[in-house]
Amino acid sequence: MPDPRPLEILLSQDQIQKRVKELAADIRRDFPNDLHLVAVLKGAFVFLSDLTRNMSGPVTLDFMAVSSYAKATTSSGEVRLLKDLDTTLEGKNVLIVEDIVDTGLTLMYLQEILRARNPKALRTACLLSKPSRRQVDVKVEYVGFTIEDRFVVGYGLDYAEQYRNLPHIAVLDS
Ligand code: IMP
Ligand code: MG
Repeated sequence: MPDPRPLEILLSQDQIQKRVKELAADIRRDFPNDLHLVAVLKGAFVFLSDLTRNMSGPVTLDFMAVSSYAKATTSSGEVRLLKDLDTTLEGKNVLIVEDIVDTGLTLMYLQEILRARNPKALRTACLLSKPSRRQVDVKVEYVGFTIEDRFVVGYGLDYAEQYRNLPHIAVLDS
């Protein structure tokens, strides 16, 4: 049964929408012509959707799914690739779109394997960042919000696959 208690809202729908518009404009300014977005499923699906709809001009999309199961055991940064991309990255301006960067291990791994596919440029956009949790120094060019070390849900982010549909970001501290 879902918990009936209302969750504390950390970032409102309005705050998120305003910030996503700004990020979309920043990204478009840096890549005015061709841009290939690679979204990391499932968490990034809402962010991707709002980001692209705030971006005019040519954009292509692809999806990958990873499982950061290694996180629970070691800090090896090993990530299991559940779904690979459909198309090549060769010569493209690629932007990785992620929901949140926590330890940074997932993103570090993704950047490594995608860089090996010879994109023209490779950058990363994350809606949220928890810098106090970082284990590796991973580069993120576009960050929506920097937050404290709290477990958050909503706007694509889940706890046990729930809450992804919230239009805002809420805190789910136990
Ligand atoms: P990292 O490898 O530790 O940076 O883990 C990143 C992944 O962990 C994210 O893509 C999320 O799927 C998940 N994650 C980290 N923090 C949170 C959180 O506060 N809420 C929901 N998922 C989170
Ligand atoms: Mg994720």
